[in-house]
Amino acid sequence: MRKKVTVVGGGFVGSTAAQRIVDRELADVVLTDILDGPPAGKGLDMLESGPITRSDSQALGISTVNGDYSATANSDVVVVTCGFPRKPGMSRDDLLKANYDVVKGVVEQIVKHSPNCVLVVVTNPLDAMAQTAFKVSKFPKNRVIGMAGVLDSARMSAFVAMECKVSVENVHSFVLGGHGDDMVPLPRYSTVAGIPLPDLLPKERIDAIVERTRKGGAEIVNLLKTGSAYYAPSAAAVEMVEAILKDKQKILPCAVYLEGEYGIKGLFVGVPVKLGVKGVEEIIQIKLTPEENAALQKSANSVKELVTVLGLW
Ligand code: 2OP
Repeated sequence: MRKKVTVVGGGFVGSTAAQRIVDRELADVVLTDILDGPPAGKGLDMLESGPITRSDSQALGISTVNGDYSATANSDVVVVTCGFPRKPGMSRDDLLKANYDVVKGVVEQIVKHSPNCVLVVVTNPLDAMAQTAFKVSKFPKNRVIGMAGVLDSARMSAFVAMECKVSVENVHSFVLGGHGDDMVPLPRYSTVAGIPLPDLLPKERIDAIVERTRKGGAEIVNLLKTGSAYYAPSAAAVEMVEAILKDKQKILPCAVYLEGEYGIKGLFVGVPVKLGVKGVEEIIQIKLTPEENAALQKSANSVKELVTVLGLW
């Protein structure tokens, strides 16, 4: 039997994620949105692409405006993308309270129908929304994961590949911390064909890449004018979904609930984890320099401020 993935939120991130899953025949997909009509249209349109892309994955779009989530029942993974997107000039954190209500309402419904799913949270502000989903779902911590590090690392890798004029396949980047302006790109752990970045590029070029990575989301928001990035975010979410569905035991940077790892307790912060069928199979602890650790703690403190506002701390 094929696996089942629900994608909550039929906006650009959600529908692009759904399409990637269907195209690659990773699972049957249920795409939900509170709008009446568009999700059904998108689901049917995706289904009709199957004969061309050679995918037997089923795609179904439903409206949940009436509160009926029964079509999502028994999903293996649920990707939560619903919420308000960032607008130019708006920080991820401005979205905090509005999206808290959205994510809380959705997760309450989802867990009733898919009590054993793994939740992959994409809604911003990411780390605080993952913490919201964790609290509301009452799931064990291994089954609630925030998507951000994969996206931020992909952006860093794209910039490194451009700078070094090499294939993106040669580049491996590591970005830890919260998904905010003080995220922590780690050049020492970022490599081109196994060679650490500090051995390849002058400090000022690395600093420029780090800065562009930190502002990567805002760069796209400013270009798009309406809405925020969706190609790279959806690709990042689907890399995580695939690792879980296929039990790949793949190490990816994700926002997970820390209980003392990296000296951080009771917060969702981005760190390297191993993803498999149980969700988070292991939290990997890498050695950080005092400066890197200070940057991670600073980033974690920003997450703490947000969850404190939400009363989740
Ligand atoms: C991004 O970084 C919107 O947070 C999202 O593009």
